[in-house]
Amino acid sequence: MEKTKVALIGLGTVGAGVARLLLDHGDRTARHAGRVLWLEKAVVRDLKKARGCQLPEGVLTDRLEDVIDDPEIKVVCQLIGGIEPARSIMLRLLEAGKDVVTANKALMAEHGPELCDAARELGRSIAFEASVAGGVPIIANLSTCLSANQVESLAGILNGTSNFILTKMHADGVPYSEVVAEAQRLGYAEADPAMDVDGSDAAQKLAILAHLAFGARVDWKDIPRSGIDTLDLADVRYAREMGYTIKLLAVAELDRSEALELHVTPTLLRDGSPLAEVSGPYNAIRVVGDAVGPLFFHGQGAGQMPTASAVVADLVDTCVGRTAITFRSLELWSNRPARVSSADY
Ligand code: NAP
Ligand code: HSE
Repeated sequence: MEKTKVALIGLGTVGAGVARLLLDHGDRTARHAGRVLWLEKAVVRDLKKARGCQLPEGVLTDRLEDVIDDPEIKVVCQLIGGIEPARSIMLRLLEAGKDVVTANKALMAEHGPELCDAARELGRSIAFEASVAGGVPIIANLSTCLSANQVESLAGILNGTSNFILTKMHADGVPYSEVVAEAQRLGYAEADPAMDVDGSDAAQKLAILAHLAFGARVDWKDIPRSGIDTLDLADVRYAREMGYTIKLLAVAELDRSEALELHVTPTLLRDGSPLAEVSGPYNAIRVVGDAVGPLFFHGQGAGQMPTASAVVADLVDTCVGRTAITFRSLELWSNRPARVSSADY
């Protein structure tokens, strides 16, 4: 069977999951791609660190050039977080003729459009399904399956760490500070968990979804946001007594004048409503399209294997030339102030 050589940049939580899927379940990817996806290199900073996967001899390296300079490596999963050096590395990979798959939402929210422009000019692709909602295929759905619709609204739980913490606070009465470390240990949190709990990570994901759903290029830093770090156990307890659950909700919707309103904020949801029932590291997104009506997407939004599932699906699509998902250069829409309310999504 034909073989396509692939590489990973980053072998942390997500990278190790991707390596495991490629090495232990190559039959699955071969069936869907019609070729073997061969893990040729995995680039890390620290060669001595313990890894959550067994790699064949010679795969692990700390030299990016081992990937850049190998013309036989066609597709690279860029699985390091933050903006730099992730952005420069992605540009170098594209310039070296590689297609790129990434899970880095910070990078795609901030530089996605120009990186995609660069990829297009170079005849390459960037796929980023795993950057929003982990294993939930929301980017593919917004980009292709809903293309006949004007999306009217999108409301969701986009940060698994916050939802995990809120679930523990709600169900077990555990204070916020005690659960953050557990979310880190389980691989849900960002390298800097402040991004999870202050609403920044959800705002980055909302900016990506707003671009795909509404054609709006939004600077995530302009999205009015507050996180769960503003809550204590008493808030959660009072909400429960009144029959509500608090969720960190990310919302983008068109108002009557067709302006786009976006915000990320802890929101009271009635017990029993679909989003109120989403627990642990799960994410969910309710999308309303003018033709299709309401849709609900639900699944694990953070964690090693759900995220790796989305990365490997992008790898397969890229290898068979199915990756057509790119940001377009669009005008910047101005945002409205946050609407903090008790919602009934
Ligand atoms: P992580 O566990 O911190 O792993 C990051 C990896 O990147 C490490 O292996 C690190 O190498 C490597 N790295 C960092 N800088 C590097 C450099 N300059 N050159 C080579 N390697 C470098 O992070 P993660 O949780 O896997 O997340 C990776 C990306 O996926 C982030 O953008 C994150 O936001 C996103 N994401 C994560 C999840 C999740 O549930 N964890 C879900 C969706 C998306 P060393 O190990 O040698 O330090
Ligand atoms: N830290 C992120 C979260 C990982 O908790 O949702 C998934 O993007």
